[in-house]
Amino acid sequence: MKAMGALLTSLALLGCSAKVDPSAIDYDKIEIPVAQLSSDEARARGRTLFKEKCALCHGERADGHGVRSKGLSGKAVNFGSSDWRSNTSAIAVFEVLSEGMRGTSMPAWPTLSEGQKWDLTAYVLSVAGDGP
Ligand code: HEC
Repeated sequence: MKAMGALLTSLALLGCSAKVDPSAIDYDKIEIPVAQLSSDEARARGRTLFKEKCALCHGERADGHGVRSKGLSGKAVNFGSSDWRSNTSAIAVFEVLSEGMRGTSMPAWPTLSEGQKWDLTAYVLSVAGDGP
């Protein structure tokens, strides 16, 4: 019984000290906040965040022409493109924000909360329909 207790304790300790490895997230199983994605408030918050953090590369108008868009590894996406819009999904955007895109200039955003990432997702997905 003592051994069992020790085993359980060490398992619990392991559980507490294990760092969350973002690449271990199963994005297929994440619940998509559908209401937030279509909310004008969420899109407006996302737009503000976008101007702060993303416009440098993706452009103030989200058209891929940020002041730093030249010389990046990969081409900063134009979110106004209906082609892009019809080939992506909320979960794909959320995953890119969480993980970045390896081998390109698109960074991961570990400092953003989940809520902020969904706000940004709501915004970028709306650009092709509603404009920047
Ligand atoms: C340092 C420049 C840079 C910044 C800052 C940046 N991005 Fe990117 N982003 C890129 C580049 C370059 C790509 C294209 C990578 C590729 O496919 O080669 C990209 C790709 C993406 C994609 C994937 C598009 C697709 O479907 O292929 C999304 C979504 C995205 N960025 C959103 C954002 C958001 C939202 C922010 C702000 C939080 C942001 N990016 C900030 C450079 C940047």
